[in-house]
Amino acid sequence: MLISRRGLTAGIGLSLAAPHVLAAELTPRQTEGPYYPLTRPADQDWDLTRLPGRSARAEGQVIEVTGRVLDIQGRPVARAKLDLWQANSRGRYMHPGDGGNSAPLDPNFQGSAVILADAQGRYRFRTIKPAPYSGRTSHIHFMISGRGRPLTTQMYFPGEPLNARDGILRGSGAEARALIALAQPRTADGALAYAWDVRLA
Ligand SMILES: [Fe+2]
Repeated sequence: MLISRRGLTAGIGLSLAAPHVLAAELTPRQTEGPYYPLTRPADQDWDLTRLPGRSARAEGQVIEVTGRVLDIQGRPVARAKLDLWQANSRGRYMHPGDGGNSAPLDPNFQGSAVILADAQGRYRFRTIKPAPYSGRTSHIHFMISGRGRPLTTQMYFPGEPLNARDGILRGSGAEARALIALAQPRTADGALAYAWDVRLA
């Protein structure tokens, strides 16, 4: 929940210029990790579960993530760019550095995407839920730009038993809650749905 200084002070008749969002509510930075894509499929669209020319969709639980990119004052960041990458449903990245991982690649999985938020800062993408891998709970990596210094961070899933043991998630301390998406009702076609708003400094 956003707490504005205006809201805090309205009762005593004060008006403060800004900022309206407390620093603690900004989306915290997290490590980029070792698997930022070196190569990508030509297809980098919002649906990571399908690749052109292939009849099968990616293996795994289909999910849809929606949210907004906001600035420090809670205003939408129009046409913010979200560069995202993740492991597949077996916990394998499409990255040569993950070659020691015995989990297989999925030839039907896009693995990464670059999408733009709309004029209201809203974004949406469809993917499969990434599996946990050694030492990590399920997560999706992001590099988000559009206001100030690009934000490198990770999004997590609610209710995951491994969240409590993930050192990178725990490393964000109390701010980690801003990294965990909110579960939403399933989409009309049965995908699990999540909402995750991002606040850029
Ligand atoms: Fe990762």
